[in-house]
Amino acid sequence: MEDSVQDQALGSASHDHAAHLDGAASHDHAAQLERAAHLEPADFDAMRVGYGLHERLDGADLAGGWLPLFTAWLEEAGRRGVREPNAMVLGTATPEGRPSTRTVLCKGADERGIRFFTTTTSRKGSQLAASGFASVTFPWLTVERQVHLEGPCHPLSREESLAYWRTRPRGSQVAAWASEQSRPAASVAELERLYAEAAERFSGDGVLGGGAADERFSGDGGVGASVVSASAADEVPMPDRWGGYLLTPERVEFWQGGRDRFHDRVECRLSDGEWSVTRLQP
Ligand SMILES: Cc1cc2nc3c(=O)[nH]c(=O)nc-3n(C[C@H](O)[C@H](O)[C@H](O)COP(=O)(O)O)c2cc1C
Repeated sequence: MEDSVQDQALGSASHDHAAHLDGAASHDHAAQLERAAHLEPADFDAMRVGYGLHERLDGADLAGGWLPLFTAWLEEAGRRGVREPNAMVLGTATPEGRPSTRTVLCKGADERGIRFFTTTTSRKGSQLAASGFASVTFPWLTVERQVHLEGPCHPLSREESLAYWRTRPRGSQVAAWASEQSRPAASVAELERLYAEAAERFSGDGVLGGGAADERFSGDGGVGASVVSASAADEVPMPDRWGGYLLTPERVEFWQGGRDRFHDRVECRLSDGEWSVTRLQP
């Protein structure tokens, strides 16, 4: 394998990185940082908004379980201008209980739970493999709402992951091949090289031959077998190191901002196969 850890890509690289390398853009960025160095510390005291858009939640709102209300809130958030209402903050933890969070996109919600997709060998993937539990928070701030869900979180079957993989834009599929998510990258140029290699590999010319780059694609977490069986001309195969997860909620909390910070909180909790609904103090 040609790759040291330094050689590996970080994050999901986009193929259009001209702006990162462009002289004018990097000059603007440097100027922005220079200005920031002279700013006063942020005035957190002045950052205060009032809440109170909504009527109080009612027990009847949850008569049908957590899913109908969740779906209604998600749709309303989108209608009222929340950008990417399916973005959620995913919390995972190490076996020692050290938590970490990051934003991912919810790509499905039904009675079984909440689905998202990622690189399974990433930092979050390692933590999920070790603990089997996760939390997610949908922060719909502009409509003064959030929903938390917590529970066991396990990989989807390869078939389910593949079904979603096939709907992804080709560029995102290539990026998943190019990036060993969460590993260090030596430089932007290194990322560009990794993306270009992956793009070249799946350029549709049918070439799936050997060589140093091929070893990287079939290395740890890669999918040598899938590559060989793929039709390079039209489909980008799904890397073994990529897939979906299902978070099966055992606790769901609905939160709405209230006047004077006297917020509205309602918790649904699963115990012995039964859901109970409890109002919580703000
Ligand atoms: C709005 C938004 C959506 C994102 N969606 C995803 C996603 O669906 N899957 C993913 O792997 N990373 C997504 N990311 C990037 C993650 O936040 C994170 O940087 C990445 O998954 C690596 O996390 P990890 O090192 O903790 O594993 C998204 C970031 C943002 C800001």
